[in-house]
Amino acid sequence: MKRSDIVNDPSIGNKAEAFEAFDDIPTNPNLGRTIGDVINARYGRRDMLRGMLGVSATTALFGTSALIAPKQAQAAAHTDSRYVFDEVTAGNDETHHVAEGYDAQILLRWGDPIMADAPEFDVMNQTAAAQLKQFGYNNDYVGFVPLNDEGTRGLLCVNHEYTNEEVMFPGLGRQDRDGFSGMTPELIDIEMAAHGGSVVEIAQGEDGQWSVVRDGKMNRRITPLDTEMTLSGPAAGHTRLMTNDDPTGTMVIGTINNCAGGMTPWGTWLMAEENFHGYFWTDNLDAEGKPVIDSANPEAVSYKRYGVPGAWYAWGKTHDRWNVDREPNMPNKFGWVVEVDPMDPTSTPVKHTALGRFRHEGAETTVASDGKLVIYMGDDNRFDYQYKYVSDGTVSDDRAANTKLLEEGTLYAARFDEDGTVTWLPLVHGEGPLTAENGFNDQGDVMIDTRIAADLVGATPMDRPEDAQPRGDGTAYIMLTNNSRREEANAANPRPENSFGHIIEIKEDGGNHSATRGTWSILVKCGDPAIAEVGAQWNPETSENGWFGSPDNCVIDADGRLWISTDQGSNWGKTGKSDGLYALETEGEARGTSKLFFRCPVGGEMCGPYFTDNGETLFLAVQHPGTDGTKDLAGFERDSTFEDPATRWPDFDPAMPPRPSVVVVTKKGGGKIAV
Ligand code: FEO
Ligand code: CA
Ligand code: CA
Repeated sequence: MKRSDIVNDPSIGNKAEAFEAFDDIPTNPNLGRTIGDVINARYGRRDMLRGMLGVSATTALFGTSALIAPKQAQAAAHTDSRYVFDEVTAGNDETHHVAEGYDAQILLRWGDPIMADAPEFDVMNQTAAAQLKQFGYNNDYVGFVPLNDEGTRGLLCVNHEYTNEEVMFPGLGRQDRDGFSGMTPELIDIEMAAHGGSVVEIAQGEDGQWSVVRDGKMNRRITPLDTEMTLSGPAAGHTRLMTNDDPTGTMVIGTINNCAGGMTPWGTWLMAEENFHGYFWTDNLDAEGKPVIDSANPEAVSYKRYGVPGAWYAWGKTHDRWNVDREPNMPNKFGWVVEVDPMDPTSTPVKHTALGRFRHEGAETTVASDGKLVIYMGDDNRFDYQYKYVSDGTVSDDRAANTKLLEEGTLYAARFDEDGTVTWLPLVHGEGPLTAENGFNDQGDVMIDTRIAADLVGATPMDRPEDAQPRGDGTAYIMLTNNSRREEANAANPRPENSFGHIIEIKEDGGNHSATRGTWSILVKCGDPAIAEVGAQWNPETSENGWFGSPDNCVIDADGRLWISTDQGSNWGKTGKSDGLYALETEGEARGTSKLFFRCPVGGEMCGPYFTDNGETLFLAVQHPGTDGTKDLAGFERDSTFEDPATRWPDFDPAMPPRPSVVVVTKKGGGKIAV
């Protein structure tokens, strides 16, 4: 599939859907034409997703083994749920729904002032200067740093992943189909100011409701427009990071496409840079508008593996640093994990190159039983890899010293073997194929071209690794969101037409997260268990409301329980379910049982989630409400625009478009969530 196919596909109605489709373009060179290409050529993607492909056609393509109904586990007469709530009924409409007995309060919306001197949001007259003091767009990761022992006051750390111009700006419409002709320099700067992150102080009142402390001393916006950052680790100062504005190769302005993330044990915030390639521009376009890379460019091989330049945004038209014709090394300064100290609003964020460069989905941390810091990280692209970082040193009470743990350590890529073993393959210069002969002159090269290094050491190409969540006992959960183009199933990616994704559970050897081997198993295969062709696998206790597709973000709560949020893109038109938050049992007879706790308004993606340490508050983020798949919304059946959106959640004000927002969930009358 080419860029122009996606941009011009009439079934893709907005930027969020186009992004999802772009994620599906594999760049792994080891893969040829896949079964998905064959299916798409014959039947078309939408028909597949709507389940219109007949059983006989499926049999012809996959063989009969794909049609064997999922083996039903021995149904227990009763399984004790560790999640005490009455589940929400699955469905899709213009607003959100939370389980009965809980409050879901809208805490922060795109444009809400977060600085004492910030102007009120004026959606018809937005400016970059105003946006720099207001909550950004498309909230994804949410973290929380408590400021008191009770956990009733703290700093919310929120990533703003990307912008959807067609529902942000009046009269503009989608811009990528006509060369971004409507994108003025001012609109481009607003987009840049709406990306990045926010640190916002919040407090819980006597009534249990949370509110923004607008004059909070630590409140801060971080953006790709004006936030200076430094680079640390093996690639810092590398010649491939030197640019016209930075001959030292050690600094960069801004961070982009911050998807999920993590909090470190010492209270700093990790922002993962995901689809960074899409922000780089070139003036060398072919007749279809597809970027052309000069093969003489020394970065050409790297560009190809990373999909640079993607030209999803027109920023490179007005800012040289996003134009690879003028700054060929600038893409090498993105695709990292950024550490921010939310307690110090004057601190300079640091991009830690020791954690590798790829389309970082998230960066969830844990302290291994030997005291080392371990971070699980997925590379969200079809057929890309699961990674893990292990620090050399151990976590201590010395906050400043702990930051070194992100500079000195080993990055590993995962190989999942058929016998249930996972082996973590070190990406270390001079070891195995990672030598000058193969283009790696030093460890900096290995980190800049992490994907190519992982290709060479033989990591297992996965079905789009999204978030990964470690638990203190040496267990980790890996979200594989979907991959309908897999030609050959393997044990760890067991469905060739994996439209709904699956979740892998890893148990590291000795219960130690820093181990280089462990075992793995599949916790669930997602999708509708009532449709045999889907090949789903759930505990049979899972109700028709409880199964889900396309796991994306996840979190472990204070009681060790797993929660999953979903991003189906426009696929909800097939499942009939909005994205949502699900409670998924991992232990005992109930293992594999899922229950729906919260569901999004139509077209929104469920992000966050994050629990406070006391387990009494749950933060959720609703990203791009009213956009994905609105052609499938009965009675609406068209693409959303600023003037004509499928929902105006959360304000339902005829003068306001839908707004990405953070929602805070508490139990009526107080107490722990779902206990
Ligand atoms: Fe930004 Fe892979 O989700
Ligand atoms: Ca995600
Ligand atoms: Ca996603």
